[in-house]
Amino acid sequence: MNRQSTSVNQSHTLQTRLVIPPDTNHIETIFGGKVLSYIDEIAAISAMRHCNKVVVTASIDSVNFVGAAKVGDILILEAFVSSTGRTSMEVYVKVYSENLLEKVKKVTTTSFLTMVAVDEQGTPTEVPLVVPETEEQKWLFQTSQQRREQRKKTVNQDAPLVKHK
Ligand SMILES: CC(C)(COP(=O)(O)OP(=O)(O)OC[C@H]1O[C@@H](n2cnc3c(N)ncnc32)[C@H](O)[C@@H]1OP(=O)(O)O)[C@@H](O)C(=O)NCCC(=O)NCCS
Repeated sequence: MNRQSTSVNQSHTLQTRLVIPPDTNHIETIFGGKVLSYIDEIAAISAMRHCNKVVVTASIDSVNFVGAAKVGDILILEAFVSSTGRTSMEVYVKVYSENLLEKVKKVTTTSFLTMVAVDEQGTPTEVPLVVPETEEQKWLFQTSQQRREQRKKTVNQDAPLVKHK
């Protein structure tokens, strides 16, 4: 049976947050772990929008903190499904910080996550294919196979560690 195809636009998700003091360190920039939890949440929402199923995070394979967000900044998170396997979805997340007083907006974080659709028993289940639309989405789609292979290598490298309790 032919698999359904869905535009990237279906999973495109935006979230806006305010950086407040409890989320920051002693130099008033946001904790990396806080940003990571936002990234994980938006990636799950984006993946669920793509497949309309329950999803779990299988891996977060890179998180690059290229800039800092300070107290009072606005964090804007953008996510979409950039490619799919049979049951897994690669989700690309980009985080911007915006200083509304200075009218400055910059990218602070980029990340790739793998989310897997599961059924009631937690068994991986098939997801629709994704169709990229924009130049950025097409580039991410075209380069996804390389990242998938790299991910497999990492999982294989870590396998002996998983066995040791
Ligand atoms: C993710 C999970 C469902 C995979 O189950 P599994 O029995 O290993 O299933 P499979 O080997 O059939 O893999 C299913 C898909 O997940 C992918 N996958 C599995 N482990 C992966 C990993 N570490 N990183 C990236 N992708 C992974 C596989 O490549 C496969 O993708 P495909 O169907 O698109 O080819 C299972 O390991 C799990 O439930 N993990 C816990 C998830 C969780 O609780 N996350 C929250 C944070 S703790």
